[in-house]
Amino acid sequence: MNPIQPFPVSPRRLVPSSIPRPVYVDKPGPEIYHGSDVQTPETVEKMREAGRVAHLAILEGAAMIQPGVTTDAIDAVIHDFICDNGGYPSTLGYRGFPKSCCTSVNEVICHGIPDMRPLDDGDLVKIDVTVFKNGVHGDNCMTFGCGTLDQASTDLMDRTREAMNRGIRAVKPGRQLNVIGRVIESYAKRFGYGVVRDYTGHGVNEAFHSGLIVLHYDQPDVTTVIEEGMTFTIEPMLTIGDYHSHVWSDQWTVVTNDLSRCAQFEQTLVVTSDGAEILTAP
Ligand code: MF3
Ligand code: CO
Ligand code: CO
Repeated sequence: MNPIQPFPVSPRRLVPSSIPRPVYVDKPGPEIYHGSDVQTPETVEKMREAGRVAHLAILEGAAMIQPGVTTDAIDAVIHDFICDNGGYPSTLGYRGFPKSCCTSVNEVICHGIPDMRPLDDGDLVKIDVTVFKNGVHGDNCMTFGCGTLDQASTDLMDRTREAMNRGIRAVKPGRQLNVIGRVIESYAKRFGYGVVRDYTGHGVNEAFHSGLIVLHYDQPDVTTVIEEGMTFTIEPMLTIGDYHSHVWSDQWTVVTNDLSRCAQFEQTLVVTSDGAEILTAP
C-alpha cells in the first residue's frame, strides 16, 4: 500500500450568512473557555440536536465512500447536509482549518484535510464531523472501509469501536476521569495496538474544546472526578504499529511515523446519574 500523499484542496465552501457561526471562525484561535464542564439540561438538549446533525452528517458522507470518490466530494456532501440542517461545520475556519470535516485515510491518524485524492480499494477511512448549532457543538468520528478491507484493518476498526464503547461504559459520576484511559489502553494492549497519546478527548459544549482533557491511556495522576452533567468526547485513536506521529507541512495532517494504519471512533457524551448518554446519536 502506497503512503498517503497530499493532493490539491478545493476552494473554501460557503455557509449561508443566515446560519450563526462560532466566534473563533477566521480568528487565529478560540478564546479560552472559562465556563463549567457541567452543563444545564437546557444546554444538553441543544447539544443533543447539534450532536444528532453531526452524526447524521457522517452517515451521509459515509454513503459516498467507494473507490474513485475523492475526500473533497465527501466534504461537499457533509458541508451541504450540515448547512441544510441549520448548522455550521465547526472545523471550517477553526484555527485556519479549511474544510467542513476531517477525512483521515490509512496511516493518517486525524485532522486530514479533504482533498482531491480519490479513495482506493482497501482504504481505511475516518470521517470526523463537528456541528455548531444552537450555540453548542456536537463532535463525532467513525471509521469505514472503502471497497474490500484487509482483515488486519477490519480487526483494528472493530476493536477501536469496542475500545471507545468500553471507555463510554466506564463513565460514572464519582469515578475519576482516568478510568476511561485505563480501560481503553488495557483493551488495546491485548492486540498489541498503539494508543495515540498526543491527541485526546476533550470537554465540549459552547466551546469546541473546553480545556478538559480526556486521555485514552492510563494516567492515574488525572484525578478529576466525573460529575453528572459533564459533557466531553471519548475518541480513541489506535494504531496497528507504533503510536508516535508527526504532522505534515500543511500543519494539520497527523500521520504515524511508521506509516501503520490507524482507526478512530468518537462520541460526545453527557454524564447521567448512573452512566453516560451519547449525544451524537440519531
Ligand atoms: N473534531 C476534532 C476533534 O475530535 C477536531 C478537529 S479540529 C480541526 O477534536 F481543525 F482539525 F478540524
Ligand atoms: Co473531538
Ligand atoms: Co472530532
